[in-house]
Amino acid sequence: MGANSLAAVVVLAAGGGTRMKSNKLPKVLHEVCGRSLVGHAVSAAGELTPGQLVVVVGHQREQVEEHLAAHYPGVRPVVQEEQNGTGHAVRTALEALAADGVTLDGTVIVTAGDSPLLTGDTLRRLAKSHEAQQNGVTVLTAVVPEPFGYGRILRDEDGTVAAIVEERDATDTQRAIAEINSGVFAFDAKLLTEALAELTTDNSQGEEYLTDTLEILRKAGHRVGAVVAEDHRDILGINDRVQLAQARRLLNDRLLEQAMRAGVTVVDPATTWVDVQVTYEPDAVVLPNTQLQGTTHLGEGCEVGPNSTLKDTLVGAGARVSNTTADRAEIGELAATGPYAYLRPGAKLARKAKVGTYVEVKNSELGEGAKVPHLSYIGDATIGEGTNVGAASVTVNYDGVNKHRTVIGAHCRTGSDNMFIAPVTVGDGAYTGAGSVISTDVPPGALGVNRAQQRNIEGWVERKRPGTVSAQAAKAAVDGAGDGAGEA
Ligand code: UD1
Ligand code: CA
Repeated sequence: MGANSLAAVVVLAAGGGTRMKSNKLPKVLHEVCGRSLVGHAVSAAGELTPGQLVVVVGHQREQVEEHLAAHYPGVRPVVQEEQNGTGHAVRTALEALAADGVTLDGTVIVTAGDSPLLTGDTLRRLAKSHEAQQNGVTVLTAVVPEPFGYGRILRDEDGTVAAIVEERDATDTQRAIAEINSGVFAFDAKLLTEALAELTTDNSQGEEYLTDTLEILRKAGHRVGAVVAEDHRDILGINDRVQLAQARRLLNDRLLEQAMRAGVTVVDPATTWVDVQVTYEPDAVVLPNTQLQGTTHLGEGCEVGPNSTLKDTLVGAGARVSNTTADRAEIGELAATGPYAYLRPGAKLARKAKVGTYVEVKNSELGEGAKVPHLSYIGDATIGEGTNVGAASVTVNYDGVNKHRTVIGAHCRTGSDNMFIAPVTVGDGAYTGAGSVISTDVPPGALGVNRAQQRNIEGWVERKRPGTVSAQAAKAAVDGAGDGAGEA
């Protein structure tokens, strides 16, 4: 059998998932490391480029179908109206394919939509062993410390797999067996169709069990094989939220290990959480309590954290990102953010730009070396290269109905506590006075200042607030200044 012999992968995802106790979300749409459970199954299957990639849906199927169409358009959903068992689910899938004129020839893999740690590599190993041994069916098994609830693998004296017996249907001796059925199989397509036609509902749940196909094929004289998973944790199936958290921890550890082996320093793996699509360059450093989500990318030698959450954000080489929350932002090479910075969608920092402490930036570009160091809101703005925005400045971008842009040119020095009433433009090389409300354009090189003349009312405190500590302090200062003058 050649490389293209993988006819189909069938992902079973029609079950109710009652133990998740979820009213809103079908079990297979719960997420682990930035991907739904069914998404993990589909992605692993997709690595093998099967002729058909089918997902059997049923319970809350509208939501599952919508999710698949949005994220995995190559997948063919097949509806199993009533969940009459895993065997019935596979039969429904094959019948739907046949009705569409698809004839399967070669290997069919059946896998579960609730096993997010299963990798494409493991599926490939299963298919390879199945084809090399020319089996009718090959089951992926695992030896687990706690086999309760799983189907047990029954082997003959000579070690060949004889059958699978479900927990509820097993004898005490069979329940003591630690080798379990992962729920993942490779079948010869033609033999699978034949075996499914012979399934009965003669068991404690009155369902058509896919697991019964092993005994059926064996009795018909076909080879039944098994591949034992290298790590039993890889086949963990998610039935409740405790297992969901366990799977997240395991997958997170696996992803961090890959990152570290690729040259990323992760100071505290226990408090670092990453999604499957995150990418890194060597020598990136991740400090504690940091979450890297979506398609976030860390450039070479950058440092992220501590206490940072980056979603779909690009971090340039050598950038420093401290105590920062960022969503769909671009942080340029050698740029710096935080501590305590908030970058919202469309925040783009060029090389060496700086967004400092208590600064929020949205839909704005900062040119090379531009700085917004302290306590500011920059929204819908363009800030030129080399410009410094004074502390506590706000681009007043929203008039209550529409958003407007502020444009500040290159190499400007804007004063502290400025309000830029957009739309407004400050020309290249201009300055603005501290405390100014800038509502009209400032030409290049000009000083824009908008501030009332200051006046001091002498002796006001002593007259209006007599006897207060302020009045006393003022009196002491005035007297002291008098004494000092006398001594000089
Ligand atoms: C199944 C296996 C068991 C194995 C275990 C591994 C059978 C009879 N038992 O048990 O040997 O150890 O998985 O986790 O196969 N599903 C459908 N349609 C249905 C029924 C189930 O699509 O009518 C889907 C479920 O959504 C799930 C998968 O099939 O993704 C397994 O079903 P589940 O009910 O969880 O089977 P288990 O009792 O766990
Ligand atoms: Ca299960």
